[in-house]
Amino acid sequence: MERLQKIIAEAGYCSRRKAEELISQGCVQVNGQTITEMGFKASFQDTITVNGTNISVNQDKVYYLLNKPRGIITSTTDDKKRKTVVDLIETDIRIYPVGRLDYDTTGALLLTNDGELTNLLIHPRSNVEKLYIAKVKGIPTKEELQKLASGVNIDGKKTHQAKVKMRKMDKKNNISVIALTIHEGKNHQVKKMFEAIGYEVIKLRRERFAFLDVKDLKSGEYRKLNPKEVKQLYGLVNQ
Ligand code: URA
Repeated sequence: MERLQKIIAEAGYCSRRKAEELISQGCVQVNGQTITEMGFKASFQDTITVNGTNISVNQDKVYYLLNKPRGIITSTTDDKKRKTVVDLIETDIRIYPVGRLDYDTTGALLLTNDGELTNLLIHPRSNVEKLYIAKVKGIPTKEELQKLASGVNIDGKKTHQAKVKMRKMDKKNNISVIALTIHEGKNHQVKKMFEAIGYEVIKLRRERFAFLDVKDLKSGEYRKLNPKEVKQLYGLVNQ
């Protein structure tokens, strides 16, 4: 048995805090009965509806890998009615993205209805590698790239060690392409890391999330993960 707000949040409906608000407003039913009591516990076998929608926590788990295109927001809904990553996947199951890619960032993004795996993957200590390819205005020196690798200050905190590799230097156009592997997932982390050494990211692509790459997927295409890949992801986060 789990607290109702936890189940609702893990089903990906909304945050735990928002779920508490909805419970206190009388918007949540368990097996047809309205619950407003905050400590109420339910099980994943119960039928839970929020604002009349069955949040289907006992549904089969699904896992998609999307090659996110530019100009799509990483969210389940948008106030401005823009297209979201969830709109790109054909399914009736309520899924949500694992972490976030910026509106203009492309590449590997997981979507699922598995709240447990999502929480484990996005946890700061999860240690999941993410490989980003950044096109940058200017050509950072070896020393500047070394700074990126050993950690720079963003939002008052030093970033963890990263792997950095110059992939391409275009001296004529004063542009470079740099591969950066990080474990953390702070907001706009890669752009802020480059900003910290004085460079602007003009294009950003996530080439790999953990061991999952999107080489075989065109922009906007997606595929389901196979059971072996799901098991491997659980293996990574349970280490
Ligand atoms: N870092 C960024 O700056 N943006 C992203 O979308 C992902 C990582």
